[in-house]
Amino acid sequence: MNNGEQIMKKLAPSILSADFSRLGEQASQISQAGADYVHVDVMDGHFVPNISFGAAVMKSLNKWNTSPYDVHLMIEHPDDYLADFVTEKTEYIVVHQEACVHLHRTLQNIKSKGVKCGVAINPATPVSTLDCILEDVDLVLVMSVNPGFGGQKFIPAAIEKIKQLDQQRKKNGYGYVIEIDGGISLDNIREVAAAGCDIFVAGSAVFGAEDIEKRVKEFKERLE
Ligand code: DX5
Ligand code: ZN
Repeated sequence: MNNGEQIMKKLAPSILSADFSRLGEQASQISQAGADYVHVDVMDGHFVPNISFGAAVMKSLNKWNTSPYDVHLMIEHPDDYLADFVTEKTEYIVVHQEACVHLHRTLQNIKSKGVKCGVAINPATPVSTLDCILEDVDLVLVMSVNPGFGGQKFIPAAIEKIKQLDQQRKKNGYGYVIEIDGGISLDNIREVAAAGCDIFVAGSAVFGAEDIEKRVKEFKERLE
């Protein structure tokens, strides 16, 4: 699907930065304003130095009118928890390369559950570590901050990784989409888009805005 074909660029606000006491309402708000995905950041306090929320919280959103979920598992032993995150609204489940000893097997496990599979790489992890699985993956997530917290500064070296991934898929006819996560703002999103990125996660830049819906629309306009 990526053989030179233009892919629609998509916005995935991260509910990590939402007001958890009004999570359903806010997830629904961003979705109605045009967010393409609800980015679900799951942290276990081991793989990353922070704990966020688990599958029960995500599932509580199913009754709200939201966009599909893009689930980012920042956890060790993700295979043990995959089934919990599969719901009728789950489109992608993304695991970390650094957390998976048997990455190929984990990706097959995700697919076998009827959802799309993705792999994320930390800022210190080169794209080349994914060479053997790029053919099998639906999404590659490039971390542009060290995972664990919202509101951190964008690490510019991520742009080179996006370019590499875009070149590789064009060269080999691979079908994955490329996602960026961390420090995305109205000021840098166009530069990342120009590098070949397709899906843009934004947490604090969306939920920190005074008018969340207006901010989603501003982001979407920059992706047109
Ligand atoms: C970081 C998370 C991100 C984070 C992005 O570990 O994976 O999704 O919420 O937040 P901002 O956009 O504030 O950097
Ligand atoms: Zn994330």
